[in-house]
Amino acid sequence: MSKTCQETGFTASQQAKWPLTHSSLTNSLEKSQVIPDSVNEQLSKDILELTSEQEISKKLSERRDGIINHLKRRFDSKFRGSKLTTFGSSESGLGLKNGDVDLCLEFNGEKPKKVLNKIARMLRDDGMEDVTLISHAKVPIVKFIDQRSKIPIDISINNSLAIYNTKLLRSYNDCDSRVRPFILAIKHWALHRGICNAAFGTFSSYAWTFIALQSLQTTNPPVVPNIQKHGKRSMKIIEGTEYDLTMSEEPKKLLKENNSQSVGELLSNFFESFALNWPWDENVLSIRSGENISRSSKKWEQQKPSIIEAVIDDKNVRLGKHSLPVEDPFDTMHDLSRVLRPEGAMDIREEFLRAFKILTEGGDWKKLTETKFPELVNDSANTDLFEDLRIMPAQDVKDMLEDLQSELSVLESEIEIRNNERKNAIEMSKALRKNAELQREENKIANTLKPRRAKIEQVKKQRDEVNNNYIPVHWIENELSKVFKRLTEDVDLMRTPSLQKEIELFSWFFELQSMHEHSKKTREFHNEFKKLLREQKNALFELENVKESGTEVNLFGDFANFDDLAHKLLLEMNPMHTEKRKLKREIGRLEAWIRISSKKGGQKTRHNNRSNKKNYSKRRNNVNVAEVKSRAASGGALSLSDLDTLLNSGGISSISNGQQNGTSKKKKKSKKKNFSPHRGNRGRSKKGM
Ligand code: UTP
Ligand code: MG
Repeated sequence: MSKTCQETGFTASQQAKWPLTHSSLTNSLEKSQVIPDSVNEQLSKDILELTSEQEISKKLSERRDGIINHLKRRFDSKFRGSKLTTFGSSESGLGLKNGDVDLCLEFNGEKPKKVLNKIARMLRDDGMEDVTLISHAKVPIVKFIDQRSKIPIDISINNSLAIYNTKLLRSYNDCDSRVRPFILAIKHWALHRGICNAAFGTFSSYAWTFIALQSLQTTNPPVVPNIQKHGKRSMKIIEGTEYDLTMSEEPKKLLKENNSQSVGELLSNFFESFALNWPWDENVLSIRSGENISRSSKKWEQQKPSIIEAVIDDKNVRLGKHSLPVEDPFDTMHDLSRVLRPEGAMDIREEFLRAFKILTEGGDWKKLTETKFPELVNDSANTDLFEDLRIMPAQDVKDMLEDLQSELSVLESEIEIRNNERKNAIEMSKALRKNAELQREENKIANTLKPRRAKIEQVKKQRDEVNNNYIPVHWIENELSKVFKRLTEDVDLMRTPSLQKEIELFSWFFELQSMHEHSKKTREFHNEFKKLLREQKNALFELENVKESGTEVNLFGDFANFDDLAHKLLLEMNPMHTEKRKLKREIGRLEAWIRISSKKGGQKTRHNNRSNKKNYSKRRNNVNVAEVKSRAASGGALSLSDLDTLLNSGGISSISNGQQNGTSKKKKKSKKKNFSPHRGNRGRSKKGM
């Protein structure tokens, strides 16, 4: 039985998924509610608390600097003359603590995609985690997680516009102390409610920043001005397109009136205005204009299908352009709603209505930002390489290590099998390729045999026809010269030849001449005949050779089959190599932790919370070490773990030094020690930075 709404076309499950949006579309939504002042006060407190929680600790900031400096050094040597710049929220100050670090490599030596490919390869070789090349995005990037600090990083190439919009956002942030908490609150809310993920069809956090800023520009009186409106126009051509990059030098001076609303009030107003006056029916959000502008003036009418049409169409269609238009401040042809999908756009509307409803009902920040999809929220970034291991019993870590080692050895032997198979396939392909070449050669030689045989027969016949009784030419020539000599020598009057004799000599001479003619022809034909015979013999010999060097691999088929097999095996091995690298890294990490924890005396108890962990290690340093030392000094009984503690706190020789000495030595040791299992000196010392 269908429960599709006649008015909206929503199915029952769509009505359940977006109840408030559905009510607003059927005009049955209660809109007369107001948000109580008490809620705003509490909101302000909660937002300020959130903001202070988002302060970057010194440790995290050092880690960020560490990885950025490390990458600078790597790129310096790989891409000579390149420049690495930080942009995005870590630079504008409008980011949540666990946000990514956005880096732009300015380099013109090669095509950006080629550079990104090289970077991805380099990062994989360096052991970075989850290295992903997103090459088809508007701005192609390489995403990865630094294996040591666990900080997510995005790298793009020559992304100059992003550097300018970061500067603009920094400037907005500097305008008023409420900008940062206000934007962080909206980003936090959007993130936890599952509507801040461009990859999943909702707004990017960059887009939310502008949605939030527009609200601060349009509240009465405004909290921030329009920074792009005043000042000498600054035009710049980037990648062939001219952009107006004007930004006011002194934006604060642009505000005529002071807005004194609390950040809680500002946020309530934000939700209220979107819930009650959905701006996108008629307008485009435009920071550059300082206010919403009409869709018609921007020529950004909603293209078909609209959000509702797309949602009720069960063919999972793509949303028409300009569904919830937000104009990029510099790239004004770029609508940040381009990434939205029908369901994502519906979720956004529902969340605004939900937020307003919660606030009017006196609900709090916690309820407002209740996490909808925990898997999309990285709230407690694993910023310590050993974070998870610290709370694990040592035996569990060892078991895990053993499992991984055996997994690795299975994987390695699987890779080896494939590798050998691939080598064999390549060998086979080579052999078959050579055979094919030889076959061609054989055919070529064989093709010359038949015509040559015919030619031999023909020449032989010609030779025999010219002179069947073959007299050697040299004999005829000899005879000719003798007769010629006798006929032309001086006549001895005493021995004059008879006429008869002279006639005989002359006729013999002419006969010899004719014989010579024939014999010369015969000799030519004979030589030709001999040459052809020789050629035929050589060809046969060559043919024999070619046949001998061919192998019997033809039985196995075509070389192309083996090329395909080799390629298939290579493709199969690629993810295996990635898995192998991952396993090796994890094994390295576990081994390092086992080494460290055994040196430190190990963490043998299960502790789930950070402060407990701190207390625990404090207890070990201050109480156990001193107590063990004094027991050892007084000759008391020592257990194996006592001995372990003793050895790790200066050894037997430190016993007489007393308790204080023991503690100070321990401190020194922990300062000196670097627990990283990885190569390089990144993050070890700041001297080089
Ligand atoms: P991010 O998505 O990382 O946003 O884009 P963000 O502002 O740094 O926010 P979080 O804290 O990480 O979530 C990084 C930068 O890329 C540029 C902007 O400079 C943005 O700050 N960018 C992003 C664009 O220029 N256009 C876009 O459509 C998206
Ligand atoms: Mg970012």
